Amino acid sequence: MSLYWRDWPVPLHSSAEVLAELAENFQFYDDDILVNTFPKCGTTLVQEIVSCLVLGPERTRTTDLKLRSPFIDLNLPPELPVPRPIDGAKKLDRPRVLKTHLPPAFHMRHLVAPSGPRNIIVMRNPKDAIVSTYHHMTSARRDELSGVPQEFSQFWRMMLGIPGGAENTEIVVHDFFDFNLSWWSMRRHSRVLILFYEDLIVDKTAEVKRMAEFLSTPLTEALLHSVLQQTSFSAMQSNPMVNITLTDPERWRPGSNFIRRGEIGDWKRHFSAEDAELVDGIIEEKLAGSVCNFATSECELNLIF
Ligand code: A3P
Repeated sequence: MSLYWRDWPVPLHSSAEVLAELAENFQFYDDDILVNTFPKCGTTLVQEIVSCLVLGPERTRTTDLKLRSPFIDLNLPPELPVPRPIDGAKKLDRPRVLKTHLPPAFHMRHLVAPSGPRNIIVMRNPKDAIVSTYHHMTSARRDELSGVPQEFSQFWRMMLGIPGGAENTEIVVHDFFDFNLSWWSMRRHSRVLILFYEDLIVDKTAEVKRMAEFLSTPLTEALLHSVLQQTSFSAMQSNPMVNITLTDPERWRPGSNFIRRGEIGDWKRHFSAEDAELVDGIIEEKLAGSVCNFATSECELNLIF
């Protein structure tokens, strides 16, 4: 049975208590930056870029991402000897770079206010997002993930909520389309910037410039160089300040990697041609009538929605 906060199913990573605090009384500041994504769409990459731009490459290189940029909607069991990220965030120096995985409904309090945090949203091709989520969920050794289907064909059905998935699972996964379309509807908000993972892969320089402009951060050649160097796939994969499979190996199955492949179109290695067609049909249906465009010049899914 799912747990609800108001009308919202509480996602696996959070709790009704944390969500209520974030939606109702957590103290946000105008200089906060929220990196907000559907999981596995490029959160960590954008957190690192924003952290370099705002906190500086040196602090970014030498401080654990979890402490520097806490995942504020993550609920941790009380028996763990570490503070909840939402409490860690309260003690951070400003400006704060905060990670969240929540639809705008949870951020309405500051989105409708005349001033408030800036929000960077990262979107990704849905089929690649499903593949990345599959690897994340089947690689993590966590009791609460024991109901996750290990078969990819069952997994994607579960994620999209169609028959043939794991109907009895207790796993609560966000609705990809609800998350992205509701953020997309905020795209003209002056404090919302929407990015695409595919653009970051194809032309990171251009996207870093967009982020610097949005954040009003002067971008020197030297800073740009550091950002590009520190956020390359190989640099992040080998960086224990970022890659949790290096620092927390017992949480992960052997051979898995949090910074896994970093490619556009890995879905082609996972979906059968028949299933890919089925998913494209579902995607088209979900996005009917919308002008959202996950697609970029390089994104395989070239739907104009
Ligand atoms: P894959 O699983 O497809 O490799 P998130 O940070 O939201 O969990 O997103 C994870 C995805 O971003 C993973 O995708 C991961 O490999 C990819 N990623 C992380 N750092 C990256 C980087 N520096 N360059 C490209 N992709 C990166």
